[in-house]
Parts: sequence; C-alpha cells; structure tokens
Amino acid sequence: MPHVAPASSTHPKASGVPIQIPSLSHPSPVQLSLVIPTYNEASSIGSLIRQLCAHLDAILPGAYELIVVDDNSPDYTAKLAQELQEEFPQLKVICRQGERGLATAVLRGWQVARGEVLGVMDGDLQHPPEIVLKLWPLMQRGADLVVGSRYVESGGVSHWNLGRRLVSRGAQAIGLVLLPGVFRRVSDPLSGLFLVRRQAIAGIPLSPKGYKLLIEVLARGRVTTIAEVGYIFQERQNGESKIQLQTCLQYLHHLIHLRFSLGQVGSFLRFSTVGLSGTVVDMVLLYLLHDPDNLGWDLITSKLIASEVAILNNFLWNDLWTFRHVTRLQPGLLNRLKRLVKFNVICLIGLFLNSSLVILLTERLGIHYLLANLIAIGIVVFWNFYLNSKLSWKSAEVKLDPRGDKS
Ligand code: GDD
Ligand code: MN
Repeated sequence: MPHVAPASSTHPKASGVPIQIPSLSHPSPVQLSLVIPTYNEASSIGSLIRQLCAHLDAILPGAYELIVVDDNSPDYTAKLAQELQEEFPQLKVICRQGERGLATAVLRGWQVARGEVLGVMDGDLQHPPEIVLKLWPLMQRGADLVVGSRYVESGGVSHWNLGRRLVSRGAQAIGLVLLPGVFRRVSDPLSGLFLVRRQAIAGIPLSPKGYKLLIEVLARGRVTTIAEVGYIFQERQNGESKIQLQTCLQYLHHLIHLRFSLGQVGSFLRFSTVGLSGTVVDMVLLYLLHDPDNLGWDLITSKLIASEVAILNNFLWNDLWTFRHVTRLQPGLLNRLKRLVKFNVICLIGLFLNSSLVILLTERLGIHYLLANLIAIGIVVFWNFYLNSKLSWKSAEVKLDPRGDKS
C-alpha cells in the first residue's frame, strides 16, 4: 500500500504563519531525510528518484528516506511518484492541496521527516543527484549545515546567459546589503541544495516566503559549523522553471521581513534601550549614594558603585536580548562568563572615560553632576556598542573544509 500523506488541516495554510520543525522524540533509524519539492516535474521525478536511491543505498543503506512534496501538479507528478513507492519503500509522497510555494513545501516535508539530518534537492535534475555522495560525509564530520554551492571550487552554472547571471548575482548583492550577517556566511546563500542538522532548526519558528529557505535557516538556525560543496547547476532538460515576477517580489519581501525580525537594524536600538535602563539604574544609585540628603558618599566612590551595578544590569539584558542571535549559538555558563568579563572590561574603560568626563564637566565647567553624568553616558555609549559588538558578542563560526580540517 503506497504511503501517501494528503494535505492535512492540522498544518498552517496561510503563508504568513511560522512553521516549526519538531525535535525527534525517540532515536530514529533514519539518518537522512531528503525532501524533493515538485511542481510539474513528471518528466524528471522517476529518473531522479532512481539515481538518488542508487547513490544513497551505497552510503546509507536502510537509513535514509526521500520525501516528495508536490503541490497537486496538473501533470500528475505526485501520482507518478506514488507509483515508484512499490519499488522504493523509502519514498514518501505528500500531495498538498490548495497550497503553493517551494520553501513551505520543503518545510512540510521536514515536518513529517524522521531523520536526524534534513535536506532538500530540486526535483528537476538541475542539482546533480550524485552530489549527495559529497554532501553527506561532511555532515558526518560534524557540520550543522552543508550547502551545495555554485560559487566555490568545482561549482558553477552550465550555460547561463549574461542576463541570468546578472539577475542571480544582483539578487545576491541585494541580500548582502540588506542582510550582510546572513549572506556573508556562505558563498551561495540562494542555493536550493543543502543538508541541515535537525537540532539546528528544531523548535525555531520559520517563516520563509517564496523560494529561498536557506537564508531563513542561516538567519534563524543554531548553525555554527558550515561546509560548502561545489556543484554545477545543470541545464533544465525537461519542464520549466517556476520562477515568476511574484517569486522575485516574495524574495524582496522575505529579505525585508528577515531584516526587521532579526533586528540587525535593531541591535543598536536594543543596545541603546538597555543602555537607557542602565542609565536609570546608574542615576538612581548615584543619587542615593552621593546626594547629601541620602548617604552623602564622595562622588568617585558613588559613581563607581552606581556604574558597576549598571554594567551588570546592562550585561544581563544585552546577553538575553540585544545579542540573542549571537548568544544562542554560544550557550553555556562558561561562554556567558567570558562575555561578561569582556563586557565588563570594555565598560570599565568606558567608565574611566565617563568618570573623567564627569569630573571635567563638573569641576572645570561647573555643570551639575547629574547632567554631566548624562552627557558622559551619551558619548560613551558609542564606544561601548562598537567594541562590544566586535569583541563580546562576535559570532563564532566554524568553516569545515571539504578536504581538510576545521579552519
Ligand atoms: N511543491 C512545490 N511547490 N515545488 C515547487 C514549487 C511550488 O510552488 N515551485 C517550484 N517547485 C520545485 C520545482 O518543481 C523544482 O523541483 C524546484 O522546486 C526548483 O524550482 P525551479 O522553478 O526549477 O527553480 P530554479 O531552477 O529556477 O532555481 C532553483 O535552483 C536554484 C539554484 O540552486 C531553486 O531551487 C533555487 O532555490 C536554487 O537556488
Ligand atoms: Mn530548476
């Protein structure tokens, strides 16, 4: 009996609803689940499945599954795929009704997948099936993400004309401007061919729009170790590309959405907001310690204590909130302590600048000490943000060389 999962109403249909991939509740015999999204790929699906099974049987016998996710193609791709299930029991077929979209189709496949590693490959043979033989070993060597790339050694495109190359490079350039932190991580962030460790994305709400799932994974996933494998993007032999103007608009929408939700614009704003909370802590404490109506301690002691408490307050919020996109990749108490030490040193130097400014402004210019404090904090926040984003919360990324060791 062929295994066909019809579209089910428990899955979100609206494209805007974030989708989550579950963790595996118990160990699975399946190591790799490779999803093949299809829309009108009847002419290539048979050949692709055959080739993939032949290659994967050689390296992962009995430990992989292929999942075709078809959007009810009028050319009966799903039916053809179902007919292959008798010969290839490791093949699942999902036929979505009333839904379209490459990235959400892939996520639907990953939602039902049982593998520790999740992957995607186009259904039109433009990704050479034998590339799995190069992708998988890198996963075994510990990568969180292995990307098939057109832009590294032994990668390329077959016979693209100048126009097509320009569009592809242009799309990448826009991405680099809008999301440099995401697009600089790999040479081919628009690739539709990659494997990712389930744990890197499990439980994280993903909201891709249109085609480009990899940028979503790079932007939101817990991905630290990345490897790239060159491949030649083949000419389409059958059928046609589904890219339309709408796909390009979805791409832009996706980038802008990611830009805002990741808060790369936001990290300075968040840092400043946290700084503001620290300023309140600092001012209130300074007032309590230094003001003659309260403890009446000397200015320098009061300022040092007030500032150190503010530094601790700021560290906590920055670590949990401002730079959470960095800290989630570097969990653990030891990492947090390292960040705290760096942050504290940078801020103490900042505090020295701050205090010097306060003294200068109060003693030389006769400005009220609270106002002087406010001015000094305003100046030192830039120093603090710049150095801390470069040193305390820098992203720790490992590149896995396809031939050698970690670099
Ligand atoms: N289920 C489903 N639903 N599948 C779809 C849909 C859809 O709405 N649209 C496209 N697909 C399937 C196609 O049938 C094909 O198997 C695959 O997704 C890629 O679509 P193409 O239309 O052939 O895209 P392309 O050749 O222009 O570009 C592809 O290759 C690039 C280079 O690696 C895409 O996969 C890009 O994401 C990729 O970067
Ligand atoms: Mn294609």
